[in-house]
Amino acid sequence: MTRGLDWRVQPGGVLRGEIRVPGDKSISHRSIMLASLAEGRSEIDGFLEGEDTRATARIFSQLGVRIETPGPGQRVVHGVGLHGLRAPTQDLDCGNAGTGMRLIAGILAAQSFPSTLIGDDSLSKRPMGRITEPLTQMGARIASSDGKPPLQITPAAALTAIDYSPAVASAQVKSALLLAGLYAPGETVVREPHPTRDYTERMLAAFGWPVSIEPGRVSVRGGGRGTGMAVRVPSDFSSAAFPIVAALVTPGSQVQLRGVGIDARRTGLLAALRMMGAQLEVRPTSLGEADIRIDHTQLRGVDIPEDLVPDMIDEFPALFVAAACANGTTRIRGAAELRVKESDRIAVMAAALRRMGVEVTEYADGVDIVGGGLAGAEVDSAGDHRCAMALCIAAGVAGSCSTITDCANVETSFPDFVQLWGALGGSIEEVAHEFS
Ligand code: S3P
Repeated sequence: MTRGLDWRVQPGGVLRGEIRVPGDKSISHRSIMLASLAEGRSEIDGFLEGEDTRATARIFSQLGVRIETPGPGQRVVHGVGLHGLRAPTQDLDCGNAGTGMRLIAGILAAQSFPSTLIGDDSLSKRPMGRITEPLTQMGARIASSDGKPPLQITPAAALTAIDYSPAVASAQVKSALLLAGLYAPGETVVREPHPTRDYTERMLAAFGWPVSIEPGRVSVRGGGRGTGMAVRVPSDFSSAAFPIVAALVTPGSQVQLRGVGIDARRTGLLAALRMMGAQLEVRPTSLGEADIRIDHTQLRGVDIPEDLVPDMIDEFPALFVAAACANGTTRIRGAAELRVKESDRIAVMAAALRRMGVEVTEYADGVDIVGGGLAGAEVDSAGDHRCAMALCIAAGVAGSCSTITDCANVETSFPDFVQLWGALGGSIEEVAHEFS
């Protein structure tokens, strides 16, 4: 028996208020991984209590790392050093998390024990060749199911440093190689076609590992040591994207978000929305964090510049809804990666928006969306957390009630979304059901 969760969303609410969205998923994953490989104690604050990041913490516990939870959003990790992980007695379940699986594979490829990484239905369909190929070049031994999970990792004699240029702009590929590179004598180099989020290299450096960061080139020297430290995790810009777009498209709304991480490699959505005419006030509060105030604005369709795509790769489901509410046509290209995320986000969002009466033309690497009025409908999120939250925004401004199916995976990244949405004035009724 599997449990399913649908959302029934009433339109017509006005979104007003001040909220803080949960901790950054990318940084939360990395904080557990790096703190585990460091020596000594690390204290993590603001940790995302989502299913993805909890799965990563569970995996490192299975690998012999003592991780305490003094309170919600807090973890104390007793690092075991680069060579202190222990063989797991069971398969390691990454759940829905591509970041978890790809980065942990880089670490496990270098261990002297075998391990198997598994994931849920969605993760089991996602491409892993992008990491297994370069890791194999380093000497790793990883078997997959035709390039997809599960990943069966067998101990390799020793890893060799490589100089690698990934074909796709991917922080996950870069990170997997840098983490494996911690164990490879010499310098492991990753050259990026387009810069991607740089948390792995910056956090490695903060823990004391020998990392070099230059434009277009990141490297790590194997055999270094990391030392435990305090990590404060900011709010996740990718979660903030939903209240940002919701407030923009919902008439009468004004929302303030507190302490949002505003790294340049993550905030392409703000640039795109400003091109569309959005009124956004971003007030930096400390290094890398800001309060953001959003007022309802009538947006206009634009051509999204292709070089913005990697800086907003997780924000397209929300942007599709902004485009559906804008005057005119929004054109998105160069975004083929969306087809291999937690779902095929181009297909899932195009199908759902069409059901709501929006004109959408699909291309291999993007869409054209003609803005207009949205009709209430039953739409499928395909179990993709970001599609579910984006469709909730669309449902909030539709002409009548909508049902969004398969929403349980919102727990992976934004566990209190329904409560925060309600606190802002929106209305989601959760409808749980069981099916065999
Ligand atoms: C992530 C990188 C991105 C992003 C994902 C998180 C990370 O994936 O889509 O949600 O934490 O490194 P890619 O690097 O595959 O684009």
